[in-house]
Amino acid sequence: MSITSPPPGWFAAPTGSERMWVGLALCWCMVMTIAMPYWHFYGKQNPTGEAYRVTPAAFGERVGKFVEQYKVGEDSGVPVVEVPPGGDGYLMARMWNFYPVLQLKKGQVYRLHMSSMDLQHGFSLQPLNMNFQILPGYDHVLTIRPTSSGVFPIVCNEFCGIGHHTMTGRIVVVD
Ligand code: CUA
Repeated sequence: MSITSPPPGWFAAPTGSERMWVGLALCWCMVMTIAMPYWHFYGKQNPTGEAYRVTPAAFGERVGKFVEQYKVGEDSGVPVVEVPPGGDGYLMARMWNFYPVLQLKKGQVYRLHMSSMDLQHGFSLQPLNMNFQILPGYDHVLTIRPTSSGVFPIVCNEFCGIGHHTMTGRIVVVD
């Protein structure tokens, strides 16, 4: 049997409680439509940031130069790089680590560039609950100002293969 059209006159305007529920849903939709842009500007949301196109190779080159120029030490074989206050810091995500370890000064403003060398990774800064996606092909830029000092672990929160659970990094904030 084929699907047939409903009989003519099947549609009737809602009445009674159906009318009330449709009305309530519509009102709530309108409240949310206004609330979403409001929260974007005035709420405590993760910032939107900026994004630019970049190839993994070009981003890798920028990270290399950045590490070469500002390296101040090493942590378990990973370079520790002091980002110049007011300047640009680069964080590379790849299977399965974050590179390098960034060192920031409390109270200073930085532009943090993040991109992936291979596939989608997540940037989850602990214990602050800041979460972003890191995608290959995009240079995602966050303007940040650390307000407390300490060691802040980064974990990958997008499943990215067999080593996903080992994919961690660090941001160090000094006074
Ligand atoms: Cu990278 Cu999960």
